[in-house]
Amino acid sequence: MNFNRPKAYIHTDRLKRNLWNIRRHVGDRKLVCVVKANGYGHGAIEVSKVLAKEPGIILAVFAFEEAIELRENGIENEILIFSRMQPDYLPKAVKLNFTLNVCAMADLKALAEFKSNGGNCPTFHLKFDTGMTRLGFDPAEADSVFSFINKNDLYPEGIYSHFATADEGDLSYAESQLKQFNEIVEKGKSLGIDFNYIHCSNSGAILNLPNAYFNLIRVGMLLYGVPPSDEVPMDIPVEPVMSFCGPIVNVRRVKAGTQVSYGGVYSTEKDTNIAVIQTGFADGFPRSWYEKGYVSYGGQNYKIAGRVCMDQLMVDFGDKEPEEGEEVLFFGRKDENEIPVETIAEAIGTTTYVLLTDIHGRTKRIIV
Ligand SMILES: Cc1ncc(COP(=O)(O)O)c(C=O)c1O
Repeated sequence: MNFNRPKAYIHTDRLKRNLWNIRRHVGDRKLVCVVKANGYGHGAIEVSKVLAKEPGIILAVFAFEEAIELRENGIENEILIFSRMQPDYLPKAVKLNFTLNVCAMADLKALAEFKSNGGNCPTFHLKFDTGMTRLGFDPAEADSVFSFINKNDLYPEGIYSHFATADEGDLSYAESQLKQFNEIVEKGKSLGIDFNYIHCSNSGAILNLPNAYFNLIRVGMLLYGVPPSDEVPMDIPVEPVMSFCGPIVNVRRVKAGTQVSYGGVYSTEKDTNIAVIQTGFADGFPRSWYEKGYVSYGGQNYKIAGRVCMDQLMVDFGDKEPEEGEEVLFFGRKDENEIPVETIAEAIGTTTYVLLTDIHGRTKRIIV
């Protein structure tokens, strides 16, 4: 019997098809595939190995350590790091050929100093904050940024910004961000700066804002086969790359009126089969889904019975007798079972980004 751990099946064939379909949509442009936060929960190394076999792929992570882990696992692609550049990391960034995020005057000064001390300048992209109010130069600083770059013979390989609302129905804010970004890029070009890469798109913009494509596209969620929100036109066919499943470890017939799990908030309406599934919130199962939630087995949905525990949850199968050792599907698509992760996100008032990156604990990733 399969009495072991929850599993996240990673369907690499779907990942590749998603990539090709996104490519078809955005035309002849390079892609930055975002594999931060352990590849949105899918396994950064496994996902990167699949993507690395495709042409024209740059990878992006958030933390310096995530980039090191990719290099240690044989990934040779360009890697863009989204977190703020740290002066201490410059020698290693050069050695490991990382592309850094330069987003403050202090960063530029540190680069200039590193260079004047005889170091090779690492590859870097300039990030401008056009409305996210997160990392990035203020657009009002553009003149001083570009003049500092010119005076100190620094050569940014790219320039970029990030949208706050590109996945929404109302695109007015995103369009104002795009307008500002265009003005900054034009200013840089007019001052003689030659950007190899200009990029602004995320999944929402890929679907919603073709004017924001420039010559490089950043893509995360769409690659993993999930719409970035329910407000975007899903013009690109994508399939869920992750199927999150858990093993049935025990099935018991109980009487009508039996309380199930902590707090006794669930009581059986009639005599029924209650199954114990060996997966809990410590493995990334979204605990609050139990109120309205269900799992899928044999192509049918069955209600979660009572509160999800740390390591286990119970399911009310009615008169169905599921097999101990088999698996139920929590979300994704596998065999005859399908529950979109976005359905759960909407029902419990969270986002698909939270649900996918929360896969952890004893969950084993199975590459298929
Ligand atoms: C700077 C940056 N670019 C691109 C992305 C990818 O966004 P998405 O997953 O919506 O495509 C992210 C994700 O948070 C990001 O932080």
